[in-house]
Amino acid sequence: MCGIVGYTGPREAYPIIIKGLKRLEYRGYDSTGVALQNGKGVKVYKKKGKVAELEDAIVGKDLHAHVGIGHTRWATHGEPSDRNAHPHQSSSGKLAMIHNGIIENYAQLKSELINKGYQFRSDTDTEVLLNFIEEIKTNNNCSLEEAVRVALKRVVGAYVILLVDADDPDTIIAARKGSPLVIGVGKGEHFLGSDASPMLEYTKEVVYVNDYELAIVKPDELILKNLGNEKLTPYVQKLDIELAAIEKGGYEHFMLKEIFEQPQTIYDCLRGRLDAVAGTITMSGIQQYADQIVKANRIVMIACGTSWHAGLVAEYIFEELCRINVEVEYASEFRYRNPVISKGDVIIAISQSGETADTLVAIETAKAKGAIILGVVNVVGSSIARASHGGAYTHAGPEIGVASTKAFTAQLAVLTMMALKIAYIKGSVSHDRYMHLLNELQEIPEKVAWVLKHSDHIRTLAEKYKDARDFLYLGRGYNFPVALEGALKLKEISYIHAEGYPAAEMKHGPIALVDETLPVVFVATRDTYHEKVVSNMQEIKARKGQVISVITEGDDMSASLSNDIMIIPEADEIVAPMLSVVPLQLLAYYIGVAKEQDVDKPRNLAKSVTVE
Ligand code: G6P
Repeated sequence: MCGIVGYTGPREAYPIIIKGLKRLEYRGYDSTGVALQNGKGVKVYKKKGKVAELEDAIVGKDLHAHVGIGHTRWATHGEPSDRNAHPHQSSSGKLAMIHNGIIENYAQLKSELINKGYQFRSDTDTEVLLNFIEEIKTNNNCSLEEAVRVALKRVVGAYVILLVDADDPDTIIAARKGSPLVIGVGKGEHFLGSDASPMLEYTKEVVYVNDYELAIVKPDELILKNLGNEKLTPYVQKLDIELAAIEKGGYEHFMLKEIFEQPQTIYDCLRGRLDAVAGTITMSGIQQYADQIVKANRIVMIACGTSWHAGLVAEYIFEELCRINVEVEYASEFRYRNPVISKGDVIIAISQSGETADTLVAIETAKAKGAIILGVVNVVGSSIARASHGGAYTHAGPEIGVASTKAFTAQLAVLTMMALKIAYIKGSVSHDRYMHLLNELQEIPEKVAWVLKHSDHIRTLAEKYKDARDFLYLGRGYNFPVALEGALKLKEISYIHAEGYPAAEMKHGPIALVDETLPVVFVATRDTYHEKVVSNMQEIKARKGQVISVITEGDDMSASLSNDIMIIPEADEIVAPMLSVVPLQLLAYYIGVAKEQDVDKPRNLAKSVTVE
């Protein structure tokens, strides 16, 4: 969702910015633009559509500049169009600005500016904020930095903004509240980005800007201040990502690459933590809070999208192993509900990006009420990771495909380890079961690789079912959230309507939809509820629905009831979701490809949802 890039230094800015914007395409967007500052003024080029379309449209223009900013816009205020694309220029034409976020009180500011005679060229909240900044600068005859500081004190909402000023040729002013901003520190140059991907080949030294901070960025100087105008010392960190991790590496799509990376990513997630021989789980970010978790009255999992589904699986696991009451909350509902939080409640925030606005605000709300916040986050140094007291990184590496895959299985691996660790300390799991589950966990990477070997079969199923209008996904117990995740994957990338439901609850509504045209995907692996799920299969079969099922190897009974099957190896029900979700990821992927959809960047979706 909205990507921002900036550069100031001795190199040509335009190619760096365009390449950076392409790296941020995965975030989801509908228009794009750049502002280039060449000492003779600020030139803005912008266009509805993809970055490549902007490039084509401006071939032959004067693109020479050593300072520039670029933006991919995911529309909020005003339709996707050339006019609403960023950067916006101020009334005088001297300032250009890009923005990621939402200015909630823009209508009030806009009417004040209209009363002062301002006219607007776009429908955006961004243009309002920009002119508000210019108005302050002109009226008070102050620097741009000062005007930004004053303006931001009046702003309600979330933002990262980057500004260039025709009167200050080599400076970019940046500020952040609620949306991500990373500054790359080079030799005599600086890079800015929504994440580190635009700067990876130039520098590994980065500064994560915090909320309510403002940066004055010049080629050889980075000044960081708070909104009270006090100087702060930038904390420079070293990135641990290689360029290859954000490239396709021979796969047709990032999504396919990321599905196939799962044996490695789950292994990376377990490595150094799980020792199945010694019977230990080492999680340094949890250790310190272990006692409080053991004594917690309840654990609240907070997340959105796929991460929320990981929370649902974890609810079953924690309740089973730790005997602690668990609730799973949509961050967007939790934050506005005036939730009851008691001191000592433990919140587990689950997020791939670590930047989801609702999740971030939800944990801040809980933190203010005295809860302990543990983050299960993929992106190192992200806002949610920094706002948490402790937690564990999922170490799945950069996930570029908008539909989350490898982050989900890594979240499950981390959450399962956490539950096992707490259960062991609490004594709520027997030693034998604990040791058995450690071994089961350790075998998961190999078993995922086994499932992936059957991908060709799943591709043929995709061809067979790709023209269905709707899909129903059903599962019970640990596999109910997997059914939800399977349905989400399919609708995200193929645009086929798909609904996930608890298999038994299906009788209270969705069964009315069942006829010979409806594929019903059962997640029916061998577990405690297996016989019940088999009965649900019979109910669908009796109504002529087409049963496609994910089953455990050797389960002839379920196979005989199914039109088609996808097989996983035998595994304990607690770890099985890391396996049973994989065929569903592949099915969604191959159907999306068969329907010729843009599977890595599905329409309207964003990878990192930085607005509420
Ligand atoms: C967006 C993405 C999903 C993701 C969700 C939560 O909707 O498209 O793939 O599951 O946000 O994101 P998070 O980064 O917090 O896990």
